[in-house]
Amino acid sequence: MTTIGKDISKAKQLLEAGELVGIPTETVYGLAGNALSPDAVSKIFETKNRPSFDPLIVHTGSIEQIGDYTTELLPELKELAQGFWPGPLTLLLPKKSIVPDLVTSGLDQVAVRVPSHPLTRELLLSLDFPLAAPSANPFGYISPTQASHVVDQLGGKIQYVLDGGPCQVGLESTIVGVEDGQVIIYRLGGVEVSEIKKVVGNVLILPQSSSNPKSPGMLKSHYAPRIPFVLGDLDQLVPHYLNKGEKFGVLSFNKLFDQVDPEDQRVLSEEGDFQEAAQNLFASMRYLDNQNVNVILSEELPEKGLGKAINDRLRRASAR
Ligand code: TXA
Ligand code: MG
Repeated sequence: MTTIGKDISKAKQLLEAGELVGIPTETVYGLAGNALSPDAVSKIFETKNRPSFDPLIVHTGSIEQIGDYTTELLPELKELAQGFWPGPLTLLLPKKSIVPDLVTSGLDQVAVRVPSHPLTRELLLSLDFPLAAPSANPFGYISPTQASHVVDQLGGKIQYVLDGGPCQVGLESTIVGVEDGQVIIYRLGGVEVSEIKKVVGNVLILPQSSSNPKSPGMLKSHYAPRIPFVLGDLDQLVPHYLNKGEKFGVLSFNKLFDQVDPEDQRVLSEEGDFQEAAQNLFASMRYLDNQNVNVILSEELPEKGLGKAINDRLRRASAR
């Protein structure tokens, strides 16, 4: 049985015993285990049904601790670390041998992050090892942004989920690295591209697809609901599907459709606020996936600010 609670010492005990625990972060909930224990790390891959070629992010409680697991904080990335940690940023850095190869799927670089959620920071600071934590969803499904989402999907497989309330950012961390002096964004996420540019100047955004060899986990079909997810112009899609007589759900940026049952619709942000839309994104996808509909219709947001990262998730959800 999986229980939910706010007991940090219980989470700590389980982790110290080599067990996995669901942890809240500001981005999404993580499925955490001792990053230095190959056994605990294998359990993460098994529990998530995740292929072992998809490496994990290592979480620590402070910037200083990052130095225990990486050989150098490249100068280009140091300022980013100082500017955005704790927060929704992940950096790829050369790994020390103490980090098991299983964590990085054999790569020389390890992905590291200092999350800002107060419960998880306190937990991390109380442990004498870092936590490997992918999002706490079965591989390929929508990421969890509430403790109950973790239980819905991994219930029975783990004993405890630390409840930190709904995630404030709602999108995974932005993943950044450097190749030959060029700063690269491997995954769009909670820290906006423009924020990163303000610190480092020029950045290259890698095409967000499965052909990205540096981030083998970034498979195209990801964050996907069980039922088909169609992206397009809702003003055309909605009448078309009404005509077809098919039962559908609508995930819109900021407006409701009169002709559709409000129960089958989710609006990401009535005010058209990107941050609010990001917070609501995964829970809304999950909600519609559990409605009695055969397909979810959705639209892209304006391609600016967090809209870019939200659109990335929407496109992946629609890719099959
Ligand atoms: O916000 C987040 O980053 C959340 C929370 C729990 O921290 N975690 C998360 O983990 O999104 P996950 O496993 O769902 O996604 C991590 C991504 C994967 O796509 C993986 O390929 C990439 O990070 N990654 C991890 N280690 C890497 C490495 N050494 N080199 C390249 N990419 C790496
Ligand atoms: Mg994930």
